[in-house]
Amino acid sequence: MTTRILLATGNVKKLVELRDVLHAARLDVEVLGLDDVRDGPEPVESARTFEGNALIKAREWSRRTGLPALADDSGITVGALNGSPGVRSARWAGPECDDEANLNLLIHQISDVPEGHRDAAFVCAMALALPDGSEHVVVREWPGHVALERRGSNGFGYDPIFVPAGHQVTSAELSPEEKNAISHRGQAVRAIVPVLVETLGLSTLDSEEG
Ligand code: IMP
Repeated sequence: MTTRILLATGNVKKLVELRDVLHAARLDVEVLGLDDVRDGPEPVESARTFEGNALIKAREWSRRTGLPALADDSGITVGALNGSPGVRSARWAGPECDDEANLNLLIHQISDVPEGHRDAAFVCAMALALPDGSEHVVVREWPGHVALERRGSNGFGYDPIFVPAGHQVTSAELSPEEKNAISHRGQAVRAIVPVLVETLGLSTLDSEEG
C-alpha cells in the first residue's frame, strides 16, 4: 500500500515548491496537503528558531491526523538588520499584513544600507514528525543579498529583491525549476528525502521499475 504523508503548510506557493521537489525524488508516496485533512486552526509558531517552529507544525499536524507530517519554517535574514526579519518574515509588517506589505517594509528598512553591505540569506528548516513520536529536522541556507529594486514575478514573498550569491538576477527571475535546484527549500527537502526513505521504509518509483 502506498504510504501517505502530509505536507503541512497553508502557503499554496510553498506547497507547489515542496511537491515539485518531492515529485522529482520519485518516492512512492501519496502526498496530501492541508486541504485534504484540515481540522482546526494552524498551530501557533511560538518558537524563536526556524527549527523550533517547523517542529511545532509537523508535530501538531501529525498528532491531529495520525500521518507522517512534513512542515517547513522559513524566512529571510538580513545582516544589516541583525538577522531580522528571520522567523517573523511572514508577519514582518504586522500580524494581518501580506507579502506586499512585508516586502515594502523591508525595502524601506534597507534603503540606507550601502551596496556591498546588504548580505542576506533565505533559511528553511524542514521537520518530519511521525505518528510514533519520532522527529527529524534539517536546516539549509541560501546566501545572497537584497536589492532595493524589485525584479521578476515568479516565486513569492521576498523573492523579487533576493539576489542569490553567484547570480545577477533575483530569485523571482529564476524559473521554478531553477529556484528549486538551489533554494533553501529545495536543499532542505532533498536533505529530508533519505530520512523519509529510511524511517518510512519507502522505495523509489525508479527502483520499482528497474
Ligand atoms: P512561514 O510560513 O512561517 O515559514 O513564513 C515564511 C515567510 O518567509 C514567507 O511568508 C515569506 O515571507 C518568507 N519566505 C520563505 N521562503 C521564501 C522564498 O522562497 N521566497 C520568498 N520569501 C520566502
